[in-house]
Amino acid sequence: MAVREAQQQPALAQDRPIVEVENVTVRLGGRPVLNDLSFAIYPGDFVGLIGPNGAGKTTLLRLLLGLVPPSNGTVSLFGHPLTRGNHRVGYVPQHQTFDETSPLRGRDMVALGIDGFRLGLPLPSQEKTAKVNRVLREVGADAYADSPIARLSGGEQQRLMLAQALIGDPDLLLLDEPLANLDIRSRRDVVNIVCSVVRQRNIAVILVAHDVNPLLGSMDKVIYLAHGRGVIGTPDEVVQTDVLTRLFGFPVDVIRAQGHILVTSAEEGGECHA
Ligand SMILES: Nc1ncnc2c1ncn2[C@@H]1O[C@H](COP(=O)(O)OP(=O)(O)OP(=O)(O)O)[C@@H](O)[C@H]1O
Ligand SMILES: [Mg+2]
Repeated sequence: MAVREAQQQPALAQDRPIVEVENVTVRLGGRPVLNDLSFAIYPGDFVGLIGPNGAGKTTLLRLLLGLVPPSNGTVSLFGHPLTRGNHRVGYVPQHQTFDETSPLRGRDMVALGIDGFRLGLPLPSQEKTAKVNRVLREVGADAYADSPIARLSGGEQQRLMLAQALIGDPDLLLLDEPLANLDIRSRRDVVNIVCSVVRQRNIAVILVAHDVNPLLGSMDKVIYLAHGRGVIGTPDEVVQTDVLTRLFGFPVDVIRAQGHILVTSAEEGGECHA
């Protein structure tokens, strides 16, 4: 996926890049899933990673987590070569299910973010409780943090997973489809929380989604992936008829109306044969 810089300067270029991906190709099952991908992400960047099923979004996050190696190119995090299990990276995976019978409370799951990843001596329990409470407040989940996580709504669970990822004070947050299965209001809430966390902590986030609309007004950059190719830039630069038509390799229409963007194509319609 040859990713072109739609604009030379990053939207919030400051300090040094948190992520630098240069000419990276990832091959899985004998075929390139990411192909010649290059981009950089800076502190304060809210990046939407958009693309259809199978475009390579999760693979890109797994690349940054050091879970899949590049077959070509280089990846640097915080100015250093990529390592696995970097505690400066917070991750919420795509699919999470909770055992209905589990008594695990929201706050227990958040605390696992400390116990699970921190090396060395565990934090004293008072300090741990204070840290859990602080991050629960930050994501607005304190009201239901004592309930079993499996009984909470999708939006509530998503806030708690965000809290778990934040408790290690990451500088880079990787969120794989945190808006899936949420209604419009919960989507907006989660995006607003992520946005204010990124701004207040001056960290970077890559948030995977299928649709740009929930992220408009929040994201600084978009990485659009499709069919082994990709493009990065501001939403205004990337989400354009000509840019996406080139990216997808077939005619795509981008229609803007009342602050919303519709990305559509004649390829979209199904065919039903008797
Ligand atoms: N371990 C693997 N071995 C072989 N192929 C793989 C492997 N992991 C992923 N793939 C393939 O790589 C492609 C990209 O997968 P990926 O999960 O990154 O897509 P995605 O954009 O996250 O899709 P979705 O929106 O459905 O989550 C898919 O065709 C998938 O089948
Ligand atoms: Mg995925």
